Amino acid sequence: MLPQNFDAVAKVDFAFYYIFGISIVLLLGITAVAGWFVYRYHHTRNPKATDISGNLWAEVAWTVIPSLIVMSMFYYGWVGYKALRTVPDNAMTVKVTARMWSWVFQYENGKRSSVLYVPQGTPVRLDMTSVDVIHSLYIPAYRIKMDTVPRMDTYAWFNPDTQGSYDIFCAEYCGMKHANMISTVEVLTPDEFEAWYTDANASEGAGRAVSLFETYGCLGCHSLDGTDGVGPSLKNLYGATRQVVMPDGTSKELVADEPYLRRAILDPAAELTAGYAPVMMPYEGAVSEDDLKVMVQWLMHGNQVSIDAGRDLMM
Ligand code: CUA
Repeated sequence: MLPQNFDAVAKVDFAFYYIFGISIVLLLGITAVAGWFVYRYHHTRNPKATDISGNLWAEVAWTVIPSLIVMSMFYYGWVGYKALRTVPDNAMTVKVTARMWSWVFQYENGKRSSVLYVPQGTPVRLDMTSVDVIHSLYIPAYRIKMDTVPRMDTYAWFNPDTQGSYDIFCAEYCGMKHANMISTVEVLTPDEFEAWYTDANASEGAGRAVSLFETYGCLGCHSLDGTDGVGPSLKNLYGATRQVVMPDGTSKELVADEPYLRRAILDPAAELTAGYAPVMMPYEGAVSEDDLKVMVQWLMHGNQVSIDAGRDLMM
């Protein structure tokens, strides 16, 4: 029996090590017996075969003992499963939206982020869905792996009891950039979290723009530091050119000028249909003119602004 206060992670780990331990014992035991049989019943030591018609107690033993072992494995697996499915009453809820190929985490006050910020000590319930194909939210540190399915709601929960940064992966193959569909859980102190949570947006300048990129989920696919991820980095994007193949097969040079940046942010689907955008860049919902201006300004002139300063403002 497990103590009551064992948390979900420990219960899942217990089931794993319990089954692993039994497997090791069986592997060694069966191998040893098989080896001993090979030696003992070699024809030079056992020249005359024995005809055994049956043994009731041997049959009872190899039926009952394995059944008990398998039932105990089921029991501990069930205990771990129950712990993963039973959300504590004091949990905060975060909505998780998966899409090709990033995560958007939306909080109860409407704040959105592509990184999952949580306060230490408060259980977090994740309500998940997907806007396109099946993905799977995988947070190894909390033993969570839950599919996100279009038009279906799934959930999971975890208890962020230790500060730090923990990996988030997509564990369901979902297309070309599946491997880039990564993020982190950032466990902050309750005070740090409160400061981040209640800070609607940094009000001015680069910090505001970076904060907006975060809010609209852009940073799930586009970096600020010049490295290309799922999409091109937002740094140095302005003025970049690219040969694109139009739906009719002709090719055309696309320039990331101001009108293009505005169109691409406001209505990426139209760009996709027109053959401009090579991959989907979905943002569900409206982008206000004011926010759009700030973001486009940053894209056009952000190169001179320190990115780190922006990050600091955001936190
Ligand atoms: Cu999303 Cu793999």
